[in-house]
Amino acid sequence: MSASRWLACAAFSVFCVLKISSLDTFVAAVYEHAVILPSNTLLPVSPSEALALMNQNLDLLEGAIVSAAKQGAHIIVTPEDGIYGMRFTRDTIYPYLEDIPDPQVNWIPCDNANRFGYTPVQERLSCLAKNNSIYVVANMGDKKPCNTSDPQCPPDGRFQYNTNVVFDSLGKLVARYHKQNLFMGEEQFNAPVEPEFVTFNTPFGKFGIFTCFDILFHDPAITLVTEYQVDTILFPTAWMDVLPHLAAIEFHSAWAMGMGVNFLAANIHHPSKRMTGSGIYAPDSPRAFHYDRKTQEGKLLLSQLDSHPRHSVVNWTSYASSIEAPSTGNQEFQSIAFFDEFTFVELKGITGNYTVCQNDLCCHLSYQMSEKRADEVYALGAFDGLHTVEGQYYLQICTLLKCKTTNLRTCGSSVDTASTRFEMFSLSGTFGTQYVFPEVLLSEVKLAPGEFQVSSDGRLFSLKPTSGPVLTVTLFGRLYGKDWTSNASSDLITHSLMIIMLIVTPIIHYLC
Ligand SMILES: *[C@@H]1O[C@H](CO)[C@@H](O)[C@H](O)[C@H]1NC(C)=O
Ligand SMILES: *[C@@H]1O[C@H](CO)[C@@H](O)[C@H](O)[C@H]1NC(C)=O
Ligand SMILES: *[C@@H]1O[C@H](CO)[C@@H](O)[C@H](O)[C@H]1NC(C)=O
Ligand SMILES: *[C@@H]1O[C@H](CO)[C@@H](O)[C@H](O)[C@H]1NC(C)=O
Ligand SMILES: *[C@@H]1O[C@H](CO)[C@@H](O)[C@H](O)[C@H]1NC(C)=O
Repeated sequence: MSASRWLACAAFSVFCVLKISSLDTFVAAVYEHAVILPSNTLLPVSPSEALALMNQNLDLLEGAIVSAAKQGAHIIVTPEDGIYGMRFTRDTIYPYLEDIPDPQVNWIPCDNANRFGYTPVQERLSCLAKNNSIYVVANMGDKKPCNTSDPQCPPDGRFQYNTNVVFDSLGKLVARYHKQNLFMGEEQFNAPVEPEFVTFNTPFGKFGIFTCFDILFHDPAITLVTEYQVDTILFPTAWMDVLPHLAAIEFHSAWAMGMGVNFLAANIHHPSKRMTGSGIYAPDSPRAFHYDRKTQEGKLLLSQLDSHPRHSVVNWTSYASSIEAPSTGNQEFQSIAFFDEFTFVELKGITGNYTVCQNDLCCHLSYQMSEKRADEVYALGAFDGLHTVEGQYYLQICTLLKCKTTNLRTCGSSVDTASTRFEMFSLSGTFGTQYVFPEVLLSEVKLAPGEFQVSSDGRLFSLKPTSGPVLTVTLFGRLYGKDWTSNASSDLITHSLMIIMLIVTPIIHYLC
């Protein structure tokens, strides 16, 4: 260090220390946790029974935290509902909740346990962070009493929130986030009146946080990236896979790439409910991921990441709007993927160029298969419309997918194995949004790190022949501005939503 630099450091020593200790890379950990569930979440339990169950889960989380710290991790993310499970009523969740203060109070629960009442879970998480010198991210329940004469206050006199907490490596509470977009059936919790944009700075970049179903909506998720400019998203989740487009590892890795951020996703491990799929995703490629339908074990993942990953700007419509649609006499057909009616064309040859359109969206595909099998059908599909089943959100999707059987009516149905590899593919669409999430999913629900890229003119293309048979190659676009526009009256929408929910609730394979 030069003399003048040293003097500057001496004069502004705090700045100097920050500068010296800032890191270009860091080691991230996520833990897929096989949560121990209460025996019956609809029956009330005493506070001590609730704490005993939570301590059983914290014992397992402790093993993961200690192991991650020993392997050099700077931060570990654990899943949504990872401390007490899911599907409670307002009353039966109550004994599990703690009052979680605003982090501005500057509190290390491990050093000052009873400052905000009886908070054993926060104390234990704080001590785990402090004792192991690691940032700990966990999901738990917050309770806030309110005055029932306030019209927003629930009749039982309290707000209950699905909450993420972060303790830094000294055990200090540095973030508290209340889930905004509750999933249907999460009646035990309230959503905050306004979305919360929760960020914190570390020597290894700026972090933002949200939870599970939040990933499908604009706030806080998109705003954290576009306005708050976070480098890394922390994402506790309890995610049930929905194929073809919403498998956990598939969609979460696509969000990291589409938004140009690191994304740390920790899922519950509950294979009988299709809850598995955690990962550490960088914008250019997944770094580590886990998907396991076979064992009952939890899994710790670690990977190094850039503290400040580079963003590249993509114009998602540039290429697709520049090419002329080949005028072919391809026979189009309609088929359903996760309750949405797509327009499809069948891929008839071993190689080809196809276009399919729906409403304002036209999708273009060039591809070459390794072989054209007689027992397998692939199709190119387009969807431009409002999805209204377990939530209301406007989609534009271009998708190459394997049909479940050779019957075209099964195109879009959930299928998790395939036999056809692709030598190359290039997919693009005339999207009306800059929020497009590129997905490539291989047979047996595997990602394809390093096998594809997105060009600045909006093509999702292969860099090499796929390492496995292809389930889907998809551009999943979101038009947030159209989520609440429709020609139907809102009463009608609410009514039809309720009917749909009654019909499909037992078969929705998607919980968040
Ligand atoms: C943290 O360390 C203290 C002191 O060694 C110990 O008493 C405490 O049990 C530890 N707590 C956790 C959660 O690791
Ligand atoms: C609740 O609000 C009412 C009306 O503002 C007030 O009279 C009452 O004292 C409040 N109760 C509590 C417990 O704060
Ligand atoms: C994207 O490209 C299209 C076609 O080249 C162009 O019309 C449009 O203005 C571009 N959009 C942005 C946001 O640059
Ligand atoms: C598809 O289009 C590309 C470029 O536009 C062209 O080189 C190729 O020959 C076409 N393939 C087929 C099978 O038509
Ligand atoms: C809604 O109405 C407008 C004009 O009234 C029409 O152009 C548009 O196609 C309609 N949209 C849908 C989804 O029905």
